[in-house]
Amino acid sequence: MTQAAATDRLAAIILAAGKGTRMKSATPKVLHKVAGLPMLGHAVKALDGLGLERLVLVLAADQDKVAEAAKDWVKDPSIVASAVQDPPKGTGHAVMAAMPALDGVTGDVIVAFGDTPLVRSETYEALLAPRRAGADIVVSGFRATGPHMYGRLVLDGAGALQRIVEHKDATEEERAIDLCNGGIMLIAGDHLAKLLSMLSDDNAQGEFYLTDMVEHAKSLGLTCAVAEGNAEDVLGVNSRVELAGVEAIMQDRLRHRAMVNGATLSDPASTYFSWDTLLGQDVEVGPHVTFGLDVKVADNVTIHAYSHLEGCIVHDGAQVGPYARLRPGAELMEGAKVGNFVELKKTRLGAGAKANHLAYLGDADIGPDANVGAGTITCNYDGFDKFSTTIGARAFIGSNSTLVAPVTIEDDGFTGAGSTITKKVEAGALGVGRGKQSNIAGWVARFRSQKAKKADKKKT
Ligand code: UD1
Ligand code: MG
Repeated sequence: MTQAAATDRLAAIILAAGKGTRMKSATPKVLHKVAGLPMLGHAVKALDGLGLERLVLVLAADQDKVAEAAKDWVKDPSIVASAVQDPPKGTGHAVMAAMPALDGVTGDVIVAFGDTPLVRSETYEALLAPRRAGADIVVSGFRATGPHMYGRLVLDGAGALQRIVEHKDATEEERAIDLCNGGIMLIAGDHLAKLLSMLSDDNAQGEFYLTDMVEHAKSLGLTCAVAEGNAEDVLGVNSRVELAGVEAIMQDRLRHRAMVNGATLSDPASTYFSWDTLLGQDVEVGPHVTFGLDVKVADNVTIHAYSHLEGCIVHDGAQVGPYARLRPGAELMEGAKVGNFVELKKTRLGAGAKANHLAYLGDADIGPDANVGAGTITCNYDGFDKFSTTIGARAFIGSNSTLVAPVTIEDDGFTGAGSTITKKVEAGALGVGRGKQSNIAGWVARFRSQKAKKADKKKT
Protein backbone atom coordinates (compact mmCIF):
# COMPACT_ATOMS: atom_id res chain seq x y z
CA MET A 1 0.00 0.00 0.00
CA THR A 2 1.29 3.43 -0.80
CA GLN A 3 1.41 6.09 1.83
CA ALA A 4 0.29 9.14 -0.11
CA ALA A 5 0.01 11.30 2.98
CA ALA A 6 3.58 10.52 3.99
CA THR A 7 4.98 13.39 1.90
CA ASP A 8 3.57 15.71 4.56
CA ARG A 9 6.37 14.48 6.78
CA LEU A 10 9.74 14.51 5.11
CA ALA A 11 13.25 13.71 6.19
CA ALA A 12 16.36 14.02 4.05
CA ILE A 13 19.74 12.39 3.87
CA ILE A 14 22.60 14.25 2.23
CA LEU A 15 25.40 12.00 1.06
CA ALA A 16 28.73 13.68 1.55
CA ALA A 17 31.13 10.91 2.55
CA GLY A 18 32.86 10.69 -0.81
CA LYS A 19 36.56 11.45 -0.53
CA GLY A 20 36.64 14.32 -3.00
CA THR A 21 40.24 13.42 -3.89
CA ARG A 22 40.06 15.23 -7.22
CA MET A 23 39.67 18.57 -5.43
CA LYS A 24 43.26 18.16 -4.15
CA SER A 25 42.39 20.06 -0.99
CA ALA A 26 42.73 19.92 2.79
CA THR A 27 39.16 21.28 2.94
CA PRO A 28 36.35 18.71 2.65
CA LYS A 29 34.89 18.91 -0.86
CA VAL A 30 31.40 19.93 0.25
CA LEU A 31 32.83 22.96 2.10
CA HIS A 32 34.25 24.48 -1.07
CA LYS A 33 32.21 27.57 -1.88
CA VAL A 34 29.93 28.61 -4.69
CA ALA A 35 28.89 32.29 -4.60
CA GLY A 36 30.36 32.47 -1.11
CA LEU A 37 28.35 29.60 0.39
CA PRO A 38 29.77 26.08 0.82
CA MET A 39 28.30 23.63 -1.69
CA LEU A 40 26.70 21.71 1.14
CA GLY A 41 25.01 24.93 2.27
CA HIS A 42 23.25 25.25 -1.09
CA ALA A 43 21.97 21.67 -0.85
CA VAL A 44 20.91 22.12 2.78
CA LYS A 45 19.11 25.40 2.16
CA ALA A 46 17.21 24.05 -0.82
CA LEU A 47 16.08 21.07 1.29
CA ASP A 48 15.27 23.18 4.33
CA GLY A 49 12.66 24.97 2.22
CA LEU A 50 10.65 21.74 2.25
CA GLY A 51 10.11 21.82 6.03
CA LEU A 52 12.04 18.72 7.08
CA GLU A 53 11.56 16.84 10.30
CA ARG A 54 15.15 15.64 10.17
CA LEU A 55 18.22 16.18 8.03
CA VAL A 56 20.97 13.59 8.24
CA LEU A 57 24.41 14.26 6.81
CA VAL A 58 26.45 11.22 5.90
CA LEU A 59 30.09 12.14 6.34
CA ALA A 60 33.50 10.57 6.15
CA ALA A 61 35.43 10.15 9.39
CA ASP A 62 36.93 13.36 10.91
CA GLN A 63 34.42 15.73 9.31
CA ASP A 64 32.70 16.98 12.43
CA LYS A 65 33.11 20.56 11.30
CA VAL A 66 30.93 19.85 8.29
CA ALA A 67 28.04 18.79 10.53
CA GLU A 68 28.55 21.86 12.71
CA ALA A 69 28.55 24.16 9.67
CA ALA A 70 25.25 22.70 8.48
CA LYS A 71 23.45 23.98 11.58
CA ASP A 72 23.90 27.55 10.31
CA TRP A 73 21.97 26.84 7.15
CA VAL A 74 18.71 25.55 8.57
CA LYS A 75 15.96 27.45 10.30
CA ASP A 76 15.85 24.91 13.12
CA PRO A 77 19.31 23.47 13.96
CA SER A 78 17.77 20.71 16.06
CA ILE A 79 16.74 18.85 12.88
CA VAL A 80 20.39 18.29 11.87
CA ALA A 81 21.93 14.90 12.65
CA SER A 82 24.99 13.22 11.23
CA ALA A 83 26.31 9.76 10.57
CA VAL A 84 29.78 8.56 9.71
CA GLN A 85 30.35 6.19 6.80
CA ASP A 86 33.79 4.69 7.11
CA PRO A 87 34.93 3.37 4.72
CA PRO A 88 32.58 4.57 1.96
CA LYS A 89 31.21 1.61 0.01
CA GLY A 90 28.68 3.24 -2.25
CA THR A 91 25.59 5.42 -2.20
CA GLY A 92 23.34 2.61 -0.89
CA HIS A 93 25.87 1.89 1.84
CA ALA A 94 25.83 5.60 2.76
CA VAL A 95 22.05 5.49 3.23
CA MET A 96 22.46 2.38 5.43
CA ALA A 97 24.90 4.38 7.57
CA ALA A 98 22.28 7.11 7.95
CA MET A 99 19.51 4.81 9.19
CA PRO A 100 20.27 4.98 12.96
CA ALA A 101 20.14 8.78 12.73
CA LEU A 102 16.64 8.49 11.20
CA ASP A 103 15.32 6.68 14.23
CA GLY A 104 11.82 7.88 15.10
CA VAL A 105 11.24 9.47 11.69
CA THR A 106 7.98 8.28 10.19
CA GLY A 107 7.68 10.09 6.88
CA ASP A 108 9.27 9.77 3.45
CA VAL A 109 12.96 10.19 2.88
CA ILE A 110 14.73 12.25 0.24
CA VAL A 111 18.26 11.20 -0.61
CA ALA A 112 20.35 14.07 -1.95
CA PHE A 113 24.02 14.76 -2.69
CA GLY A 114 26.22 17.29 -0.92
CA ASP A 115 28.18 18.24 -4.04
CA THR A 116 25.33 19.47 -6.27
CA PRO A 117 25.07 23.16 -5.36
CA LEU A 118 22.81 24.15 -8.26
CA VAL A 119 19.93 22.07 -7.00
CA ARG A 120 16.88 24.16 -6.05
CA SER A 121 13.91 23.60 -3.77
CA GLU A 122 11.89 23.09 -6.97
CA THR A 123 14.13 20.16 -7.91
CA TYR A 124 13.15 18.43 -4.69
CA GLU A 125 9.53 19.55 -4.86
CA ALA A 126 9.23 17.98 -8.31
CA LEU A 127 9.62 14.58 -6.62
CA LEU A 128 6.53 15.10 -4.49
CA ALA A 129 3.84 15.10 -7.20
CA PRO A 130 4.60 11.57 -8.54
CA ARG A 131 4.77 10.37 -4.93
CA ARG A 132 1.36 11.86 -4.18
CA ALA A 133 0.11 10.16 -7.33
CA GLY A 134 1.11 6.83 -5.79
CA ALA A 135 4.75 6.12 -6.67
CA ASP A 136 6.82 4.53 -3.89
CA ILE A 137 10.14 5.71 -5.29
CA VAL A 138 10.65 8.84 -7.36
CA VAL A 139 13.98 9.41 -9.09
CA SER A 140 15.21 12.73 -10.53
CA GLY A 141 15.94 12.37 -14.23
CA PHE A 142 17.44 14.54 -16.93
CA ARG A 143 18.48 14.16 -20.55
CA ALA A 144 22.15 13.95 -21.47
CA THR A 145 23.91 13.11 -24.67
CA GLY A 146 27.58 12.77 -25.50
CA PRO A 147 30.07 10.93 -23.32
CA HIS A 148 29.27 10.86 -19.59
CA MET A 149 29.20 8.47 -16.62
CA TYR A 150 25.65 8.91 -15.33
CA GLY A 151 23.39 6.02 -14.46
CA ARG A 152 20.72 5.37 -17.14
CA LEU A 153 17.01 5.17 -16.36
CA VAL A 154 15.47 2.12 -18.02
CA LEU A 155 11.75 2.52 -18.71
CA ASP A 156 9.23 -0.12 -19.71
CA GLY A 157 7.03 0.11 -22.82
CA ALA A 158 4.48 2.17 -20.89
CA GLY A 159 7.13 4.69 -19.83
CA ALA A 160 7.34 3.52 -16.20
CA LEU A 161 10.74 3.27 -14.47
CA GLN A 162 11.98 -0.32 -14.36
CA ARG A 163 15.52 -0.06 -13.10
CA ILE A 164 18.65 2.09 -13.07
CA VAL A 165 21.82 0.82 -14.60
CA GLU A 166 25.15 2.40 -13.71
CA HIS A 167 27.27 3.46 -16.66
CA LYS A 168 30.02 1.01 -15.74
CA ASP A 169 27.55 -1.90 -15.67
CA ALA A 170 25.57 -0.86 -18.74
CA THR A 171 25.48 -2.59 -22.11
CA GLU A 172 26.03 -0.59 -25.32
CA GLU A 173 22.29 -0.59 -25.85
CA GLU A 174 21.65 0.76 -22.35
CA ARG A 175 24.34 3.40 -22.77
CA ALA A 176 22.38 4.73 -25.73
CA ILE A 177 19.55 5.76 -23.37
CA ASP A 178 19.61 9.53 -22.93
CA LEU A 179 17.45 9.63 -19.77
CA CYS A 180 19.88 9.76 -16.84
CA ASN A 181 19.78 9.52 -13.09
CA GLY A 182 20.16 12.93 -11.41
CA GLY A 183 20.94 11.11 -8.18
CA ILE A 184 18.18 12.59 -6.04
CA MET A 185 15.53 10.13 -4.87
CA LEU A 186 12.38 10.18 -2.81
CA ILE A 187 11.63 6.88 -1.07
CA ALA A 188 8.48 5.87 0.80
CA GLY A 189 9.53 5.80 4.45
CA ASP A 190 7.80 2.53 5.24
CA HIS A 191 9.72 0.62 2.53
CA LEU A 192 13.17 2.11 2.99
CA ALA A 193 14.63 -0.38 5.50
CA LYS A 194 13.37 -3.40 3.53
CA LEU A 195 14.75 -2.06 0.25
CA LEU A 196 18.15 -1.29 1.79
CA SER A 197 18.37 -4.86 3.10
CA MET A 198 18.01 -6.12 -0.48
CA LEU A 199 21.06 -4.23 -1.84
CA SER A 200 24.23 -6.12 -2.69
CA ASP A 201 27.69 -5.09 -3.84
CA ASP A 202 27.79 -7.56 -6.71
CA ASN A 203 28.53 -5.08 -9.51
CA ALA A 204 31.32 -3.48 -11.53
CA GLN A 205 32.45 -1.21 -8.68
CA GLY A 206 31.89 -3.61 -5.77
CA GLU A 207 29.66 -0.99 -4.13
CA PHE A 208 26.18 -0.95 -2.64
CA TYR A 209 24.34 1.11 -5.24
CA LEU A 210 21.35 3.08 -4.02
CA THR A 211 20.11 2.91 -7.58
CA ASP A 212 19.48 -0.87 -7.32
CA MET A 213 16.55 -0.07 -5.05
CA VAL A 214 14.39 0.57 -8.09
CA GLU A 215 14.72 -2.98 -9.37
CA HIS A 216 14.11 -4.40 -5.88
CA ALA A 217 11.06 -2.18 -5.43
CA LYS A 218 9.64 -3.53 -8.70
CA SER A 219 10.20 -7.09 -7.47
CA LEU A 220 8.09 -6.25 -4.41
CA GLY A 221 5.30 -4.91 -6.65
CA LEU A 222 6.00 -1.27 -5.79
CA THR A 223 5.80 1.61 -8.26
CA CYS A 224 8.75 3.75 -9.35
CA ALA A 225 8.57 7.03 -11.25
CA VAL A 226 10.86 9.64 -12.80
CA ALA A 227 10.62 13.39 -12.18
CA GLU A 228 12.38 14.86 -15.17
CA GLY A 229 14.16 18.16 -14.65
CA ASN A 230 17.06 20.03 -16.22
CA ALA A 231 20.61 18.74 -16.25
CA GLU A 232 22.09 21.91 -14.78
CA ASP A 233 20.27 21.54 -11.47
CA VAL A 234 21.90 18.21 -10.67
CA LEU A 235 25.43 18.98 -11.89
CA GLY A 236 27.93 17.52 -9.47
CA VAL A 237 31.35 18.94 -8.61
CA ASN A 238 34.34 16.66 -8.45
CA SER A 239 37.22 18.98 -9.33
CA ARG A 240 38.14 22.65 -9.16
CA VAL A 241 37.45 22.91 -12.87
CA GLU A 242 33.89 21.71 -12.30
CA LEU A 243 33.64 24.03 -9.30
CA ALA A 244 34.45 26.98 -11.57
CA GLY A 245 31.87 25.78 -14.10
CA VAL A 246 29.17 25.60 -11.43
CA GLU A 247 30.20 29.01 -10.07
CA ALA A 248 29.71 30.50 -13.54
CA ILE A 249 26.20 29.07 -13.78
CA MET A 250 25.37 30.27 -10.28
CA GLN A 251 26.63 33.78 -11.11
CA ASP A 252 24.41 33.84 -14.18
CA ARG A 253 21.42 32.86 -12.05
CA LEU A 254 22.19 35.58 -9.50
CA ARG A 255 22.62 38.21 -12.23
CA HIS A 256 19.34 37.16 -13.73
CA ARG A 257 17.62 37.35 -10.33
CA ALA A 258 18.97 40.86 -9.70
CA MET A 259 17.73 42.09 -13.09
CA VAL A 260 14.32 40.44 -12.73
CA ASN A 261 14.00 42.18 -9.36
CA GLY A 262 14.58 45.58 -10.96
CA ALA A 263 18.31 46.29 -10.97
CA THR A 264 20.16 47.43 -14.10
CA LEU A 265 23.49 45.69 -14.60
CA SER A 266 25.32 47.53 -17.35
CA ASP A 267 27.66 44.59 -17.93
CA PRO A 268 26.12 41.56 -16.20
CA ALA A 269 29.01 39.23 -17.05
CA SER A 270 31.41 41.33 -14.99
CA THR A 271 29.16 41.70 -11.93
CA TYR A 272 29.88 39.13 -9.22
CA PHE A 273 27.35 38.32 -6.54
CA SER A 274 27.23 36.36 -3.32
CA TRP A 275 24.37 33.97 -2.76
CA ASP A 276 22.81 36.39 -0.24
CA THR A 277 23.22 39.74 -2.05
CA LEU A 278 20.04 41.81 -1.89
CA LEU A 279 19.50 44.60 -4.43
CA GLY A 280 16.45 46.84 -4.45
CA GLN A 281 14.65 48.33 -7.41
CA ASP A 282 16.19 50.86 -9.78
CA VAL A 283 19.64 50.05 -8.55
CA GLU A 284 22.27 50.69 -11.21
CA VAL A 285 25.42 48.63 -11.18
CA GLY A 286 28.33 49.55 -13.44
CA PRO A 287 30.86 47.11 -14.85
CA HIS A 288 33.23 45.07 -12.67
CA VAL A 289 31.41 45.41 -9.39
CA THR A 290 31.83 42.63 -6.81
CA PHE A 291 29.40 41.88 -4.01
CA GLY A 292 30.95 39.89 -1.17
CA LEU A 293 28.85 38.25 1.51
CA ASP A 294 26.08 40.03 3.37
CA VAL A 295 25.36 43.11 1.28
CA LYS A 296 21.99 44.85 1.29
CA VAL A 297 21.32 47.61 -1.21
CA ALA A 298 18.09 49.62 -1.05
CA ASP A 299 16.25 51.22 -3.99
CA ASN A 300 17.65 53.93 -6.31
CA VAL A 301 21.28 53.30 -5.45
CA THR A 302 24.02 53.73 -8.05
CA ILE A 303 27.15 51.63 -7.78
CA HIS A 304 29.78 52.71 -10.27
CA ALA A 305 32.42 50.56 -11.92
CA TYR A 306 35.09 48.61 -10.03
CA SER A 307 33.55 48.90 -6.59
CA HIS A 308 33.86 46.13 -4.02
CA LEU A 309 31.18 45.72 -1.33
CA GLU A 310 31.04 43.31 1.57
CA GLY A 311 29.08 43.12 4.83
CA CYS A 312 27.46 46.51 4.28
CA ILE A 313 24.15 48.29 3.97
CA VAL A 314 23.52 50.95 1.34
CA HIS A 315 20.36 52.95 1.84
CA ASP A 316 18.03 54.58 -0.67
CA GLY A 317 19.55 56.93 -3.21
CA ALA A 318 23.16 56.53 -2.09
CA GLN A 319 26.03 56.54 -4.61
CA VAL A 320 29.10 54.37 -4.53
CA GLY A 321 32.32 54.52 -6.52
CA PRO A 322 33.80 54.15 -9.04
CA TYR A 323 36.60 52.25 -7.29
CA ALA A 324 35.05 52.33 -3.81
CA ARG A 325 35.52 49.69 -1.15
CA LEU A 326 32.80 49.11 1.43
CA ARG A 327 33.99 46.65 4.04
CA PRO A 328 32.04 44.91 6.82
CA GLY A 329 30.07 47.27 9.00
CA ALA A 330 29.89 50.08 6.44
CA GLU A 331 26.50 51.77 6.21
CA LEU A 332 25.62 54.53 3.79
CA MET A 333 22.50 56.38 4.86
CA GLU A 334 20.01 57.89 2.40
CA GLY A 335 21.64 59.88 -0.38
CA ALA A 336 25.18 59.53 1.00
CA LYS A 337 28.06 59.51 -1.50
CA VAL A 338 31.29 57.57 -1.49
CA GLY A 339 33.63 58.28 -4.37
CA ASN A 340 36.77 56.86 -5.90
CA PHE A 341 39.43 55.18 -3.78
CA VAL A 342 37.47 55.57 -0.58
CA GLU A 343 37.45 52.69 1.90
CA LEU A 344 34.89 52.37 4.69
CA LYS A 345 35.02 49.83 7.50
CA LYS A 346 32.56 49.74 10.43
CA THR A 347 31.59 53.26 9.51
CA ARG A 348 28.25 54.94 9.11
CA LEU A 349 28.10 57.78 6.64
CA GLY A 350 25.07 59.92 7.49
CA ALA A 351 22.28 60.93 5.14
CA GLY A 352 23.55 63.23 2.41
CA ALA A 353 27.13 63.08 3.70
CA LYS A 354 29.98 62.80 1.19
CA ALA A 355 33.42 61.26 1.10
CA ASN A 356 34.19 61.76 -2.55
CA HIS A 357 37.87 61.02 -2.95
CA LEU A 358 40.77 59.02 -1.53
CA ALA A 359 39.97 58.34 2.11
CA TYR A 360 40.12 55.66 4.78
CA LEU A 361 37.21 55.82 7.22
CA GLY A 362 37.26 53.09 9.85
CA ASP A 363 35.31 52.74 13.12
CA ALA A 364 33.63 56.08 12.48
CA ASP A 365 30.20 57.61 12.83
CA ILE A 366 29.74 60.48 10.42
CA GLY A 367 26.74 62.77 10.75
CA PRO A 368 24.30 63.85 8.05
CA ASP A 369 25.50 66.28 5.37
CA ALA A 370 29.10 66.14 6.57
CA ASN A 371 31.81 66.53 3.94
CA VAL A 372 34.92 64.45 4.22
CA GLY A 373 37.73 65.89 2.13
CA ALA A 374 40.16 64.06 -0.12
CA GLY A 375 42.92 62.21 1.66
CA THR A 376 41.21 62.04 5.05
CA ILE A 377 42.41 59.18 7.24
CA THR A 378 40.90 57.97 10.48
CA CYS A 379 43.81 56.58 12.50
CA ASN A 380 41.75 53.95 14.26
CA TYR A 381 44.39 51.40 15.22
CA ASP A 382 47.47 51.61 17.42
CA GLY A 383 48.69 48.13 16.70
CA PHE A 384 46.72 46.68 19.62
CA ASP A 385 43.28 48.27 19.87
CA LYS A 386 40.74 49.99 17.66
CA PHE A 387 39.33 53.43 18.50
CA SER A 388 36.42 55.36 17.11
CA THR A 389 35.98 58.69 15.42
CA THR A 390 32.80 60.73 15.63
CA ILE A 391 32.07 63.42 13.08
CA GLY A 392 28.98 65.54 13.63
CA ALA A 393 26.29 66.77 11.29
CA ARG A 394 27.41 69.24 8.61
CA ALA A 395 31.03 68.97 9.72
CA PHE A 396 33.68 69.73 7.11
CA ILE A 397 36.86 67.69 7.22
CA GLY A 398 39.57 69.48 5.26
CA SER A 399 41.59 67.56 2.70
CA ASN A 400 44.38 65.39 4.02
CA SER A 401 43.15 65.52 7.61
CA THR A 402 44.53 62.85 9.90
CA LEU A 403 41.99 62.10 12.62
CA VAL A 404 43.74 60.30 15.47
CA ALA A 405 41.07 58.25 17.25
CA PRO A 406 39.50 58.36 19.73
CA VAL A 407 38.44 61.80 18.58
CA THR A 408 35.30 63.82 17.97
CA ILE A 409 34.50 66.61 15.55
CA GLU A 410 31.23 68.05 16.77
CA ASP A 411 28.34 69.28 14.63
CA ASP A 412 29.39 72.00 12.17
CA GLY A 413 33.04 71.59 13.17
CA PHE A 414 35.75 72.19 10.54
CA THR A 415 39.25 70.87 10.30
CA GLY A 416 41.90 72.72 8.33
CA ALA A 417 43.41 70.90 5.35
CA GLY A 418 46.48 68.88 6.27
CA SER A 419 45.66 68.86 9.98
CA THR A 420 46.52 66.12 12.40
CA ILE A 421 43.57 66.21 14.78
CA THR A 422 44.13 64.61 18.17
CA LYS A 423 41.68 66.62 20.31
CA LYS A 424 37.98 67.25 20.14
CA VAL A 425 36.86 70.03 17.76
CA GLU A 426 33.89 71.74 19.40
CA ALA A 427 30.66 72.50 17.59
CA GLY A 428 31.16 75.21 15.01
CA ALA A 429 34.93 75.48 15.71
CA LEU A 430 37.83 75.17 13.28
CA GLY A 431 40.52 72.72 14.34
CA VAL A 432 43.91 73.30 12.76
CA GLY A 433 46.85 71.12 13.66
CA ARG A 434 49.78 71.54 11.27
CA GLY A 435 53.15 73.30 11.03
CA LYS A 436 52.88 77.04 10.38
CA GLN A 437 53.95 78.12 6.92
CA SER A 438 56.90 80.51 6.59
CA ASN A 439 58.08 81.91 3.24
CA ILE A 440 61.78 82.73 2.66
CA ALA A 441 62.14 85.49 0.10
CA GLY A 442 64.81 85.03 -2.61
CA TRP A 443 65.60 81.47 -1.53
CA VAL A 444 65.12 79.90 -4.95
CA ALA A 445 67.63 82.15 -6.73
CA ARG A 446 70.28 81.43 -4.04
CA PHE A 447 69.63 77.72 -4.24
CA ARG A 448 69.90 77.62 -8.00
CA SER A 449 73.14 79.58 -8.13
CA GLN A 450 74.70 77.25 -5.52
CA LYS A 451 73.74 74.27 -7.64
CA ALA A 452 75.08 75.91 -10.81
CA LYS A 453 78.45 76.57 -9.13
CA LYS A 454 78.75 72.93 -8.06
CA ALA A 455 78.01 71.77 -11.60
CA ASP A 456 80.70 74.08 -13.04
CA LYS A 457 83.28 72.70 -10.58
CA LYS A 458 82.54 69.13 -11.71
CA LYS A 459 83.08 70.06 -15.36
CA THR A 460 86.52 71.57 -14.72
C1 UD1 B 1 25.63 8.56 -8.74
C2 UD1 B 1 24.57 7.54 -9.20
C3 UD1 B 1 24.36 7.68 -10.69
C4 UD1 B 1 23.93 9.11 -11.01
C5 UD1 B 1 24.95 10.09 -10.48
C6 UD1 B 1 24.37 11.48 -10.58
C7 UD1 B 1 24.75 5.62 -7.72
C8 UD1 B 1 25.26 4.23 -7.58
N1 UD1 B 1 25.01 6.20 -8.88
O1 UD1 B 1 26.83 8.19 -9.36
O2 UD1 B 1 23.35 6.79 -11.13
O3 UD1 B 1 23.78 9.25 -12.40
O4 UD1 B 1 25.21 9.85 -9.07
O5 UD1 B 1 25.35 12.44 -10.24
O6 UD1 B 1 24.12 6.12 -6.82
N2 UD1 B 1 28.85 9.15 -1.47
C9 UD1 B 1 28.90 8.77 -0.14
N3 UD1 B 1 29.35 7.52 0.16
C10 UD1 B 1 29.75 6.64 -0.78
C11 UD1 B 1 29.71 7.03 -2.14
C12 UD1 B 1 29.24 8.29 -2.44
O7 UD1 B 1 28.54 9.54 0.73
O8 UD1 B 1 30.16 5.53 -0.40
C13 UD1 B 1 28.34 10.47 -1.81
C14 UD1 B 1 29.36 11.36 -2.51
O9 UD1 B 1 30.05 12.17 -1.55
C15 UD1 B 1 28.48 12.22 -3.41
C16 UD1 B 1 27.30 11.31 -3.73
O10 UD1 B 1 27.28 10.31 -2.73
O11 UD1 B 1 28.00 13.37 -2.75
C17 UD1 B 1 27.37 10.68 -5.11
O12 UD1 B 1 28.51 9.86 -5.19
P1 UD1 B 1 29.33 9.73 -6.55
O13 UD1 B 1 30.47 8.83 -6.27
O14 UD1 B 1 29.60 11.07 -7.10
O15 UD1 B 1 28.26 8.93 -7.45
P2 UD1 B 1 28.29 8.83 -9.01
O16 UD1 B 1 29.27 7.80 -9.41
O17 UD1 B 1 28.41 10.16 -9.60
MG1 MG C 1 29.11 12.05 -8.85
